[in-house]
Amino acid sequence: MTTTVAGDLVFDPYDYDFHEDPYPTYQRLRDEAPVHHAAADDLWVISRHADVFDVLRDDGVFSNRMGVSLDASAWSPDAHRVMSFLALDGAEQSRIRKLVSAAFTPRRVRELTPEVQRLTEQYLATTLAASADHGDADWIGELAGKLPMDVISEMMGVPRADRDEVRRLADLVVHREDGVRDVPQAGMDASIELFGYYGEMVRERRRGPRDDLTSALIAAELDGDRLRDSEVMAFLFLMVVAGNETTTKLLGNALFHLAAHPDQQTEVLAAPDDPSTLVVPWIEETLRHDTSSQMLARYVVADAEVAGVTVPGGSKALVLLGSANRDERVFTRPTAFDIHRDKAELAQILSFGTGRHFCLGANLARLEARVVLEELVRRVSHFEVHADRAVRVHSTSVRGFASLPVTFQERA
Ligand code: HEM
Repeated sequence: MTTTVAGDLVFDPYDYDFHEDPYPTYQRLRDEAPVHHAAADDLWVISRHADVFDVLRDDGVFSNRMGVSLDASAWSPDAHRVMSFLALDGAEQSRIRKLVSAAFTPRRVRELTPEVQRLTEQYLATTLAASADHGDADWIGELAGKLPMDVISEMMGVPRADRDEVRRLADLVVHREDGVRDVPQAGMDASIELFGYYGEMVRERRRGPRDDLTSALIAAELDGDRLRDSEVMAFLFLMVVAGNETTTKLLGNALFHLAAHPDQQTEVLAAPDDPSTLVVPWIEETLRHDTSSQMLARYVVADAEVAGVTVPGGSKALVLLGSANRDERVFTRPTAFDIHRDKAELAQILSFGTGRHFCLGANLARLEARVVLEELVRRVSHFEVHADRAVRVHSTSVRGFASLPVTFQERA
């Protein structure tokens, strides 16, 4: 089969107008060119839910070997050195993921709940005080931008005294200046420093294990096989890249969209004694409606047919999770934000991927969002987002806000 190229349809993942609202472009892609060759970046863009799902499941042809990012410097057969099993296929991916899963257990995640609650109360207190003092507070700067990395540090066993510095480095690793397409020098330098820090922590835990994830990763063993130090370090680094900014953006997008729907906000905030009933659907609908991880790259190992179009071997494919979640073939009124959406529909969101690379931290992300937003419901009777002053991140890997001014009204 020949390839399709839609007439005037331009897909530019670096375009600022696209970042402002990518959904009309996704809609056109789904309708006019569900497998679209974006010539400028030589990308094969896949936008329908069924095709995104199939590509993610067909991991023998659509490989993670070169990483999953659009950044040119991150697209490399060595990506696994810092991205661990996210950038590996087949048996190599299974081996490390299984060893890591022996340490990164659902129980270890659950046991983080009191610390997530403590951090939530601490940061929410400063957020609400800032809002009372200045009229509004930056939800990202005060809370959403801090808590996810602190939770990761807690899990790994980073001492509290080091956490601000580790968070500063982690923020630099993922920070992108407007208009810069690739990883900036400051990001490279911070990556090296953070890697060095984790290397020292791994060596320390080898000498004296503690009750933390790093020690558990070192101790993990399956049929006599263990993780090497470099593999433990790569996984610790992957947690920062995969689990930090994505969760920050989820917390920001949740407030942004609920505030834009006052009736639904009233409903959610009406139940301070039983916040969970509506907080969980609020989180899931945010994940569907405007997910923080919008697109994933794949290296195409051999010619493959997707929706009747041949995607050539050796090329780079891009699956649009954000578009799949708005596909009218799966979701009713997909453009509407609706916390009462049918559960069976919500079960089909692709925000955490699917198949071999399904997000290892999905439970943790959901736990953090639930604890934070439930506490917000307990403490706050109303909030207003100042969308005109919100600052969006211009990034191909995450969607959300760098800064989100919000006025909070505390309950009496
Ligand atoms: C809202 C927050 C999050 C979103 C939207 C998200 C999204 C994703 C997606 C889409 C993938 C699949 C990548 C692929 O198929 O190539 C993934 C993988 C992964 N995520 Fe998450 N993630 C989130 C939070 C987290 C957290 C909190 C952690 C851990 C601390 C985490 C750790 C991972 C890891 C380790 C992988 C790689 C799995 C593999 O390759 O087998 N994520 N995530």
